[in-house]
Amino acid sequence: SRHFSVSHSVLSNAINQVTIIGGGLMGSGIAQVAAQAGNHAVIVDVNDGALKKAENEVQISVRRVAKKIFKDKPADGEKFVSDVIGRIKTSLDMKEAVKTADLVVEAVTENLELKQKLFSNLDSVAPEHTIFASNTSSLSIGEIASLTKRKDRFGGLHFFSPVPVMKLLEVIRIPETSDDTYEKMMNWGKAIGKTTVTCKDTPGFVVNRLLVPMFAEAVRMLERGDATARDIDIAMKLGAGYPMGPFELADFSGIDTPKYILDGWHKKFPDNPLFNPIPLLNKLVEEGKVGMKAGEGFYKYE
Ligand code: CAA
Repeated sequence: SRHFSVSHSVLSNAINQVTIIGGGLMGSGIAQVAAQAGNHAVIVDVNDGALKKAENEVQISVRRVAKKIFKDKPADGEKFVSDVIGRIKTSLDMKEAVKTADLVVEAVTENLELKQKLFSNLDSVAPEHTIFASNTSSLSIGEIASLTKRKDRFGGLHFFSPVPVMKLLEVIRIPETSDDTYEKMMNWGKAIGKTTVTCKDTPGFVVNRLLVPMFAEAVRMLERGDATARDIDIAMKLGAGYPMGPFELADFSGIDTPKYILDGWHKKFPDNPLFNPIPLLNKLVEEGKVGMKAGEGFYKYE
């Protein structure tokens, strides 16, 4: 299938138990693809409502995946769904949930101090061999790892939304990441059916370093009145082969995300004009018009 691999980990030292911190759309998607590949996954969140929502998201998405793979075999599809769901647990106790983990993937809000504190807390309770990874899309992996004593077992595993559909996984190593850790991350990525690319620990890695400035330029173009949002989206779809135009994509994934990414980069690299603040973008976020999830972004949704 285009979206899914059934390959199971065969290496004896491969990753089988994954703990995902953060039950948002990314975290639940990561748990899902791990469980689809035969891993046992635990999703941890601080809030029970988020965990219920995560379970629900996974249910819906696994059904879509099953429908595709087992088109003519609905009974096998049902079994697949219940097997995958059966391999996913949820927990409110982060420290307990990492005790049996081979890999911890953090997918919480893009807040450096929060991520640093989280990994520092986990460092003393996770087993020696456990690999720590962040799904951050814009922060520095080296800075996130800085309070831990396991920088050799630390890296970035950056997924794309929707996780069950998007084939790419960016694997980031910091200078301290060991070859063994890097190989395990790469092998795990392949085992869960993703195509892996490697990038140094640089702002936005490959995809967001290109996608976010492109989006910023699109908003500036709209702000200047050069073209309408609709026409810019059509142009990028039909003229550049993008599946979604920049505004459709921003509305779909949340306009607040690229705004905070730009803010962070502007603060860190004030001399790079690509990252300059954009009044129209700031205004939309201030007004809460952050995209589909809010019913309005660049477009309106019923
Ligand atoms: N779970 C499981 N399956 C899903 C799914 C989900 N959440 N969402 C879509 N699908 C499946 C559908 O079942 C459908 O399967 P078939 O092809 O077998 O029918 C297929 O994916 C296509 O879905 P749709 O027909 O509903 O709609 P579409 O063709 O428009 O695809 C899309 C939707 C996959 C989201 C596509 O529009 C797309 O690829 N968009 C671009 C997404 C993108 O660029 N993501 C990256 C965002 S950047 C990022 O994530 C980085 C960051 O750090 C911020």
